[in-house]
Amino acid sequence: MAGAINFSEANHQNERSEMLKAFDATKSGVKGLIGSGLSKIPQIFARSSDELAHELTHNKTAQAEVPLIDLTGICDPERRDRIVEEVRIASETWGFFQVTNHGIPQIIIDEMIDGVNKFNDMAAEEKEKYYTRDLRRRVRFNTNFDLFNSKTANWRDTLGISFAADGIPSDELPAPCREIALNYSKHVVILGEILLELLSEALGLKPDYLKSMKCANGHLMNCHYYPACPEPELAVGTAKHSDIGFITILAQNEIDGLQVMYRDQWIDVHPLRGGLIVNNGDLLQVLSNGKFISNKHRVVANNIGPRISVACFFSGPLLNGEGMCYGPIEELLSEENPPKYREIVFGEYVLKFTKIGLDQYLGLDYYKL
Ligand code: OGA
Ligand code: NI
Repeated sequence: MAGAINFSEANHQNERSEMLKAFDATKSGVKGLIGSGLSKIPQIFARSSDELAHELTHNKTAQAEVPLIDLTGICDPERRDRIVEEVRIASETWGFFQVTNHGIPQIIIDEMIDGVNKFNDMAAEEKEKYYTRDLRRRVRFNTNFDLFNSKTANWRDTLGISFAADGIPSDELPAPCREIALNYSKHVVILGEILLELLSEALGLKPDYLKSMKCANGHLMNCHYYPACPEPELAVGTAKHSDIGFITILAQNEIDGLQVMYRDQWIDVHPLRGGLIVNNGDLLQVLSNGKFISNKHRVVANNIGPRISVACFFSGPLLNGEGMCYGPIEELLSEENPPKYREIVFGEYVLKFTKIGLDQYLGLDYYKL
């Protein structure tokens, strides 16, 4: 019957929305929940039976692994050609690769992970000062940026730090990770610029092409904390998604969880000591006119933990970048290769992403020609 209200659905929605509000008001995240000892996950984190059934269609049988690229010898012209070729193949097939000998000392990565752990271990009263979803604040701690827009809450707390091209005032950062976040950020920007050069070359462009489009002007550092989950098969750490920026560099501790979609199957990305994960985002897929893919990935929940990861999104000029437009790069287009995406106005693009739950967002489908 058209227009009829489904009361049981409405009640269910109300109940869910009340539960979300109550949970959010604790300002202490998933970690705060489990602190009180928990044998079952609250309903807001339980995936639907449809989704759980769908899971079975992506059962793992393949033994594939994300490509591993050793950046040693990057200044040697012959060796660099090889590396660029490896980056090209990985970007066309997986949209993901793991780099080693990337120039960021292991101690810096370890201290960064440790800093995230220490932040999450702070007293609730200290942590809640940072609890917000207000994107105007440069430092934001919360459980799920999309808590009120998604179908299922994700088993994850996140400390997000927005670095402008000229950095961030250090006193805005939480003390337990202040020094190391600034230090890690400096290292990650250097690596980000190297990767943008390699990606430009892999597209057949001048090395500084992507950098000169300000792809590395500012980055968002999302420090994720995935507590051990009492019912991991029912929950999800991060819903399936692709990243919206140009590239992402991800550090993780030793606990499994990240999976990448490859040939219609979820493939585990096992943490490799000394390695960092690099993946292409939607904007790079657009710039490359679909040549480089921005692949779907997710994080499964685990009964051991915490799993900690630090995702640095190179998303262009985050501040004052609203008016920037990005479309397929002219030099890459031809009669045989017409544009596949329309121009994206950066500000609108980011706004759309933040208004829609990660598990509902259709990514580049909105922009296909
Ligand atoms: C992300 C992401 C993966 C992880 O933050 O976009 O995919 O391992 N994170 O936390
Ligand atoms: Ni991601």
